[in-house]
Amino acid sequence: MSKNRVETTWREYWKDNVDAIKYDVKGADLSSLIFEETLNNLLHKPLDRQSVIECGSGSGRISALVAGKAKDTMLLDIVEPVVAKCKRLFKEYNLKGKFIVGDILNMPIKNNMFDLVWNSGVLEHFIGSERQTALENMKRVCVPGGLMLIFTPSRKALFYRFGKWVMEKRGCWPYGDEYPVDTLYGECKKAGLVLRKEYQKGFIHQESYLRGGLMLDKISFINALVMLFSLRIIQPLLLRLRWLDEILTRVFGGYLLVSVISKPSDATK
Ligand SMILES: C[S@@+](CC[C@H](N)C(=O)[O-])C[C@H]1O[C@@H](n2cnc3c(N)ncnc32)[C@H](O)[C@@H]1O
Repeated sequence: MSKNRVETTWREYWKDNVDAIKYDVKGADLSSLIFEETLNNLLHKPLDRQSVIECGSGSGRISALVAGKAKDTMLLDIVEPVVAKCKRLFKEYNLKGKFIVGDILNMPIKNNMFDLVWNSGVLEHFIGSERQTALENMKRVCVPGGLMLIFTPSRKALFYRFGKWVMEKRGCWPYGDEYPVDTLYGECKKAGLVLRKEYQKGFIHQESYLRGGLMLDKISFINALVMLFSLRIIQPLLLRLRWLDEILTRVFGGYLLVSVISKPSDATK
């Protein structure tokens, strides 16, 4: 999808959804837990000595968790109202953050500024040279030797892909074109980045897509049962029994592909 189409899709999306953004400052949702667990396993220096930027920050709900712990937290998004909403929520929750309206393909930020550059649910909207440009811009603002973390929907996530396919056919897929990712190995190599590891996470993340795919929103009684079963029983269970989520992820695929990337310490830009 071209940059303009991505931008238009998200402007429309946030028009309807910006008011509903809320933060769970305890970070109980699975994305936050995955982010936190990934970080805990990776950081070579404490978070309170790191400057962090989320490029394509949307609701900013994970950055809100980082904000209390990192040295600096910056949120960048191309849609002004969502950036403004994050700013208000940060203030409300007494969190420190910097906010910038900008384009990931041409970020108004100097080179080598952040120890950790990350995003979730952004790169899959771009393909080909635009995905490459987004990655190279993330590299540019990362310090040499710094870390880049990218979360994208995995091509191996069967339930998510089934749900997406059905919703696209029914014309009710709200996120525009989205290209699930197999690996970012080729893009990293081309950009002079080191893909340190890449793995899938979050089997249970596929639950809402599966419900969409099975059109359970149309059949309210069954929907209620599935909601009760999956959200009230399976989700809390998998949040506790992470090993079970890992086994299911191995068998059926996890929603997220986690790409852990380093910018070489001798990189010039
Ligand atoms: C799936 S959302 C991100 C979700 C976010 N991780 C969250 O938890 O809310 C993708 C975000 O990327 C933003 N975006 C799309 N194109 C962009 C661009 N060219 N530059 C910066 N942000 C962009 C959208 O406005 C949207 O907020």
